[in-house]
Amino acid sequence: MTNKFGCHIAGGKEMTAETEDYPSKITLYVVVCWILAAFGGLMFGYDIGISGGVTAMDDFLIKFFPKVHERKMHAKENNYCKYDDQNLQLFTSSLYLAALVSSFAASKVCTKFGRKPTILLASAFFLGGAALSAAAQNLWMLIIARILLGIGVGFGNEAVPLFLSEIAPVQHRGAVNILFQLFVTIGIFFANLVNYGTLKMHPYGWRVSLGLAGVPATMLCIGSLIITETPASLVERGKELAGHKTLKKIRGVDEVDSEFDQIVRASKIAQEVKHPFKKLMKLSSMPPLIIGIMLQVFQQFTGINAIMFYAPVLFQTVGFKNDASLLSSVITGTVNVLSTLVSVYAVDKIGRRKLLLQACIQMFICQTAIGAILLVHLHSKDSLTKTQAAFVVTLVCLFVMSFAWSWGPLGWLIPSETFPLETRTAGFAFAVSSNMLFTFIIAQAFLSMMCHLRASIFFFFAAWIFAMGLFVLFLLPETKNVPIDVMVDRVWKKHPVWKRFMVGDGGS
Ligand code: BGC
Repeated sequence: MTNKFGCHIAGGKEMTAETEDYPSKITLYVVVCWILAAFGGLMFGYDIGISGGVTAMDDFLIKFFPKVHERKMHAKENNYCKYDDQNLQLFTSSLYLAALVSSFAASKVCTKFGRKPTILLASAFFLGGAALSAAAQNLWMLIIARILLGIGVGFGNEAVPLFLSEIAPVQHRGAVNILFQLFVTIGIFFANLVNYGTLKMHPYGWRVSLGLAGVPATMLCIGSLIITETPASLVERGKELAGHKTLKKIRGVDEVDSEFDQIVRASKIAQEVKHPFKKLMKLSSMPPLIIGIMLQVFQQFTGINAIMFYAPVLFQTVGFKNDASLLSSVITGTVNVLSTLVSVYAVDKIGRRKLLLQACIQMFICQTAIGAILLVHLHSKDSLTKTQAAFVVTLVCLFVMSFAWSWGPLGWLIPSETFPLETRTAGFAFAVSSNMLFTFIIAQAFLSMMCHLRASIFFFFAAWIFAMGLFVLFLLPETKNVPIDVMVDRVWKKHPVWKRFMVGDGGS
């Protein structure tokens, strides 16, 4: 069976090193390891979800951002501008700047010391950040706390997806990878619930919200002491015997030699490349690198985090009262979790391209419709009627739904499966840091953009969604059922555009 680019796409199972069923049982120990490690996703999600609700709380604003609070209370306030404050946005975005810088350091720690200590370090930073933000007395304490949390995110997001993929049996790798995103969405949902509960706890509800980040951080910390180191990391660091023993333990069977040989082979090839970052700059590395980076840019410019960070603020903008707006973001949080489950099921059946394209259409319609409603009905100083506001919430839910089964998980999955082994961790570090960079940009700019562009901000996102649809249509090859180790030959060298990059340095 061939796709429209003439690439061979396997309809059924392909018996290659990558999809060959290595004997394994899903042992209780390995499931516990996945769940414990996935708490890293929970931490990331909690951080995403908590800041929007906290920045909409009056007690928090009075303590740290009195000017914003005054503007919010002012009778003649402008709907679109009441939260436009660079410092307030810095509260949200500083975390992502720290994560961006630290993900490169994390990739080095991960290679040199292993996944387990990197996850332990992530949890230590998370714990420090959670404690400091709950105890914050001034803005600087708050920003330093956010930076600590950000370093935790940088370390966690580099190590956890790698850890999950490396200990997953090869035939479940896609679904296990999406487990990380599933926990991210659960973290966001949990944060929305917490904010809903703490809103009425005056005057310290915000401290409870920020401090409760310590719960998933503690779980991750305990988890990181219990989980195993991955066989690949042990072999990479010269501990072959321990690697073989660990592989037997996590697979729950004795016949692990063929899988172990593959790990050793892959690790030898990878070790021959002394400078993965240099190799990444070669022409032949460009296709997966460009795709890995562009997926992150596009993922953020769908406008998802304008909703995830600022949903309560956004819903207040369209006229909901405080608790109604938090409740609405609890609803979008639920939609986010449930729709991610759809992708766990669909990604290997329907394929990546179809999911991404379908979502582009749905997201484009939603963003355009939200923009149009606000443009016509929401002027600077009034609010929407109940029916109009309910319609906006429904559109936001439909938008989140399509993001959650496509660009959310696939933004992380595709970069993890399109790089050849020798540049995989370095390439993935680029994807993580690009994600953080563009998350930072949206976090820092969204409230100002909303103030200046008003309802047109939603048309701005719609225009990006249109562009990303064209990108997927013409430039993103289908990677469903394509074994990772034949990706270069079977996908990149056959693609009408990308094959031009595979000449010159021979694609090696
Ligand atoms: C994105 C986050 C986003 C989340 C929403 C993730 O894939 O990287 O930026 O907030 O999905 O569920």
